[in-house]
Amino acid sequence: MQTSNQSLKPTTTKINENKHLEIGGCDLVELAAKYGTPLYVYDEQTIRTVAQEYKKAFSSYPKVNMLYASKAFMTKAIVRILDEEGFGFDMVSGGEIYTAHTAGADMKKCLFNGNNKSSDEIKMAINYGVGLISADNFFELKLLDNASKAAGKVTDILLRVTPGIECHTHEYIQTGHLDSKFGFDLTQVDEVIEQIQNKYNNLNIVGLHAHIGSQIFETSIYYDEVEVLIKEMARIKQKYNINPTHINLGGGLGIKYTKEDCPPSIYEIADKIISSININSEKYNIEKPEIHIEPGRSIIGTSGVTLYTVGSSKQVPQGKKYVAVDGGMADNPRPSLYQAVYTAELANRPEDKNEEKVTIAGRFCESGDILIQGINLPKLKEGDILCFYDTGAYGYSMSSNYNRVLKPAAVLVNNSQSDIIINRENYEHLVSLDVIPSRLIKN
Ligand code: LLP
Repeated sequence: MQTSNQSLKPTTTKINENKHLEIGGCDLVELAAKYGTPLYVYDEQTIRTVAQEYKKAFSSYPKVNMLYASKAFMTKAIVRILDEEGFGFDMVSGGEIYTAHTAGADMKKCLFNGNNKSSDEIKMAINYGVGLISADNFFELKLLDNASKAAGKVTDILLRVTPGIECHTHEYIQTGHLDSKFGFDLTQVDEVIEQIQNKYNNLNIVGLHAHIGSQIFETSIYYDEVEVLIKEMARIKQKYNINPTHINLGGGLGIKYTKEDCPPSIYEIADKIISSININSEKYNIEKPEIHIEPGRSIIGTSGVTLYTVGSSKQVPQGKKYVAVDGGMADNPRPSLYQAVYTAELANRPEDKNEEKVTIAGRFCESGDILIQGINLPKLKEGDILCFYDTGAYGYSMSSNYNRVLKPAAVLVNNSQSDIIINRENYEHLVSLDVIPSRLIKN
């Protein structure tokens, strides 16, 4: 059965009676006119559908906790939607913890993770009642124990480990291989447990945590990951007088950015994970663990599109044709960072025939600010609205104010209604944190 991460477009995308692209019952050309461009548009139905697909795919396994990896895209409205769908949140900073808390997330269901959490962030997590903290390194054990002691609490922790599994994705987004900045090497786990048992009375090890990488298309590595973690749990149980019961498998499932991409379905991933648990808990003779999964991109990526307005163009004599849009690497750094490839269509003339191959350039002052290298499109005219698909994950969340360009707005669409979920920045916002020392003030 197909799941939404295998679709190139939000589930509600269609061409409407105006011959425009429409998502969530909203005409994209009208949205561009109403809210301006660049504009991130999120389809609520797609988000809820994927969340439900995850729940359904894992429904045969009773001990599953669903977390959403907030780093993919977090705003208070997204927290509300996924909280309603029963998800907790994987959070990696004070900012993400604050957003979840202020939007009313169930903090008991949440996890705080990261390779260099500050002691203030750890205190905040403990004070807000975050259910689990993933301990990443030796330095942090002390911080975690001190903060727990000061709060008069015992903190449940997972040990983040690097399972030594390599996946075929961009080098920058692989995380589970041995030479990684995240987590303990499996050969260090004994020392971690011994330190905790000997020195840290306010930490309770409930299990292990790993994350292999992102934009993963291989299902077998999830099988292997579960085996590595279960084998390690069994070893720990036998050697020490503790009973870890949880494994957190991270996120990573890929989405379809181009028609050539064939990510597996959520059901295929769930089947691999569940069958590996069944086989390996018997093989290593331990009780079936409670699991956490924490997808980010596959929950939010497909639901989001970005609308740009076409501006200038340039034909290089005997070379490429560049067409520039009003956004670029500051609202979507993925093409320049990871050579990520996107699919785009004209929102105002989606049925026009493709006539030319063009390079879509951003507006930022850098030659590398190219959003798509060589895409076939109808002849583009100034004022056309281009719709980039699959920009829902790691777009806004990695956006910047490069060139002092204002960050775009984000709207949520559903049942023909559109609502702002992030306001467009204005110039006042932009300078609001700037301070001129008094000796430099012009009088
Ligand atoms: N859990 C942990 C511990 C992670 O480090 C990540 C992502 C996730 C879950 C969620 O992974 P996802 O399901 O989204 O693949 N900026 C990059 C992606 C970086 C991912 C970092 N960790 C990109 O734009 O491709």
